[in-house]
Amino acid sequence: MFDIATIRQQFPILTVEAHPGVPLIYLDSAASSQKPTAVIEAMNAYYRTYNSNVHRGIHALSEAATDAYESARQQIADFINADYAETIFTRNATESINLIAYSWGRQNLQPGDEILITAMEHHANIVPWQIISEMTGATVRHIPFTADGTLDLSNLDTLLTERTKLFAFTAVSNVFGTINPVRQLVDAAHAVGAIAVVDGAQAVPHSPVDVKAWDADFMVFSSHKMGGPTGVGILYGKCALLEAMPPYMGGGDMIRRVSLEKSTWNELPYKFEAGTPAIAEGIGLGAAVTYLSALGMENVHAHEQTITHYAYEAMHTVPGLTIIGPGAAERGGLCAFTLAGAHPHDIAQLLDEDGIAVRAGHHCAMPLHKILGISATARASFYVHTTTTEIDQLVTSLHRVRKILRL
Ligand SMILES: Cc1ncc(COP(=O)(O)O)c(C=O)c1O
Repeated sequence: MFDIATIRQQFPILTVEAHPGVPLIYLDSAASSQKPTAVIEAMNAYYRTYNSNVHRGIHALSEAATDAYESARQQIADFINADYAETIFTRNATESINLIAYSWGRQNLQPGDEILITAMEHHANIVPWQIISEMTGATVRHIPFTADGTLDLSNLDTLLTERTKLFAFTAVSNVFGTINPVRQLVDAAHAVGAIAVVDGAQAVPHSPVDVKAWDADFMVFSSHKMGGPTGVGILYGKCALLEAMPPYMGGGDMIRRVSLEKSTWNELPYKFEAGTPAIAEGIGLGAAVTYLSALGMENVHAHEQTITHYAYEAMHTVPGLTIIGPGAAERGGLCAFTLAGAHPHDIAQLLDEDGIAVRAGHHCAMPLHKILGISATARASFYVHTTTTEIDQLVTSLHRVRKILRL
């Protein structure tokens, strides 16, 4: 049972006013989500009662901190059906992708090799591949998208070939909302001997994800988009790949032995975790995962589907409004849109006067917008606390935007 009234009470920020007398309607969860009390309290408890460094002390506080941090890792691993050693703490999805590019990419790519991405990627899944291709001589190619914002797989055979060494794609587009056929794409990569990197930043927060069912070689996501704090993210990687990769950064914790001449590396997952980690944040992400698991990820997904269908219909009643991307049934919980004659930044600013937080801009997907021939869109995105009443208020406010801008 998805009790939305109770869920809303679990997010303290939802009682805050955006402006004096104007309640907050938060429709920007795809950029960063709000945090439930359970997460805030878990982080508070660490700082108030057992703040200490992990892995380093034999005193009580350090043991408590290490226990909590490593228990969080196990909870996160279970959440995506990964093994403990394959679940690496990073700063965010972006750092996870960079880690793959610098470690796996520098070891495995050479001139003549190809990296395949898609034209709907977030910059985090474009730029690291461009940087690593310049370093290694590999070439970056991309799969285009169709008019309705789904991947155009009609020429996949010519794009994904035995020259392709790595295929990186998003599970869910942060602009179109498109839910991509992950397992099909992973299988296609494996069929030509390439590894598959799945950007789960917009998938893991919103629906059940099972890295083994996907057969992904690597999968990345960020805590702050799933009710957890900023400053922590996850890299999942298959053990055999991670074992064969060199460290990304050197320093404390990631070593087994150090001499002044040479060092050897710690076992997984620590080999990729140099230096003191974001301890409170890791514990906070563990609490977020516990919170979402208690709601049930199937229920989270079903709720967002309901809201997305409702929003898709309701927003289309606004004259001149176009939602980019596929129909409601094929998308995750977000709607990026244009309003004829209005700049997305003006839309966002006028909605903000009504307390409605949406994002405007290119959403770190400049290539996608360039292909569409537009510089920006406005985006409303939804989460576990979003109600149909809030969508009604968004639509009312969009009518007001049209009136003010005399459209
Ligand atoms: C699809 C996708 N990939 C990657 C990222 C990067 O996430 P972060 O900035 O937390 O590293 C985002 C964030 O918006 C995203 O939506």
